[in-house]
Amino acid sequence: MAKIAKLDDIVSLCKRRGFIFQSSEIYGGLASCYDYGPLGVELKRNVRKAWWDNTVQLRDDVVGLDCSILMHPLIWKASGHADKFADLIAECKKCNTRTRVDHLADHVEEHTEHISIDTAMAAQQDLSSKECPNCKTVGKFTEPMPFKLMFETQMGANVDDSMTLYLRPETAQGIFANFKNVLDTTRVRIPFGIAQIGKSFRNEVTTKAFIFRTREFEQAELEFFCKPSTDEKWYEHWKEARFNWYTELGLKKENLRFREHERGELAHYAKACVDVEYKFPFGSGDWQELEGIANRTDYDLRQHQRGIRTLNKWFENNKDLTTIELAGEAEDYQSGPLSYFDDEQKERYIPYVIEPSAGIDRSALAFLVDAYDEEEVRGETRNLLRFHHALAPIKVAVFPLVKRDGMAETARNIYDDLKKHFNCFYDEKGAVGRRYRRQDEAGTPFCITVDGQTKEDNTVTVRQRDSMEQVRVSTNQLLNHLREKLNM
Ligand code: GAP
Repeated sequence: MAKIAKLDDIVSLCKRRGFIFQSSEIYGGLASCYDYGPLGVELKRNVRKAWWDNTVQLRDDVVGLDCSILMHPLIWKASGHADKFADLIAECKKCNTRTRVDHLADHVEEHTEHISIDTAMAAQQDLSSKECPNCKTVGKFTEPMPFKLMFETQMGANVDDSMTLYLRPETAQGIFANFKNVLDTTRVRIPFGIAQIGKSFRNEVTTKAFIFRTREFEQAELEFFCKPSTDEKWYEHWKEARFNWYTELGLKKENLRFREHERGELAHYAKACVDVEYKFPFGSGDWQELEGIANRTDYDLRQHQRGIRTLNKWFENNKDLTTIELAGEAEDYQSGPLSYFDDEQKERYIPYVIEPSAGIDRSALAFLVDAYDEEEVRGETRNLLRFHHALAPIKVAVFPLVKRDGMAETARNIYDDLKKHFNCFYDEKGAVGRRYRRQDEAGTPFCITVDGQTKEDNTVTVRQRDSMEQVRVSTNQLLNHLREKLNM
């Protein structure tokens, strides 16, 4: 049975093998920011590719997009983020640590996601018996206050045209802002989706737990536009599709589950929302959100129609977002600029949206945790990552058994040939057993060794990571053999 990984094991392996480093480590580190090293960057690339292949390439009803991170500030007014994307926090009067009020509640894990600010306000509780998680002082909190989660920045050097912009807190809004562009320039017809992978930023109050929650992270989001009466069918469709994506990439079913949001927990835009939860190894080994799938209704497109109507007022208001009111909704909003005309049914409507929203970093963490294993082999502990082949950063490692007798040259030639097809690694240093162990920890599915017999019969050994079984394969057949095994 696979070992249940502890977060410390994962953090230590990630550092040791060059998957993930603390950002700015030589300067003492920057809290909640991480850098992906040589193996981590390949893992992340594979997670992105697996998502894109499954969500865009293999479907006829989804197209891709890559929007800029900086967008018109009114987008965030219309989406509701400028006013509502905040956590309710209280500050400890003794040590000045700010904590999310919902995380001060009894029995609440500090890894839970944001709850809407309205819900948090409504559920405000007496903090007189609550303990500061930092200095442990009881009941010395300020009045709860909203803390905005969007990072602000300034654009433009000239006083006249400089303005406050926001680093996007989700990639979704760039998709809504381009709905009409995609509709007008491609052949998509409803139902169809627009997918995007990219960085998002949130000034999170609570981070910790490695790359689970960071202030800069990558999202993979799909906005799937459908006819309003078909939304529930598509919601079910995407729930199933997204759950299967994780299991097909090797996450164990017993570590995954759905959790439907309760009414009071729903984000301001959602009619329904379900989380795909993973059993992450934090503290008590709790279930945490891996991905959210929401029925956003026609909320966003309708809001952006209001946003467009606010433009003139925004200029008159000196581009100040903080004091501006969003224009009301036009009476004929159903035929507004972001509406859709169904040529077959001859009807016009604002589409509903089903949104599966995944985190690339959070998925990478789940894949690392799930793949981690330790086993005893001849009295020694073998650490390994049992990655799905599609996710493994290196697919094949090539070694000469020793550097003598032309073995290194033969191994190099094999490596040079294979690297045109897969991500490969060449290693000739140290005992071969140690080289195998290094590749086990990197999650490399196959190791090829050139030995004395290679010269005689043109065969090499192919060692399989999980079973450690070795078979001899002719060098002429090697590429086909690996292609078949790796399914690539
Ligand atoms: N557009 C909807 C949206 O952004 P969300 O539940 O806030 O929904 C979706 O985020 C996913 O993005 C989460 O399930 C998680 O995988 C990832 N995510 C959100 N905040 C994150 C953070 N601070 N650090 C890492 N990943 C995060």
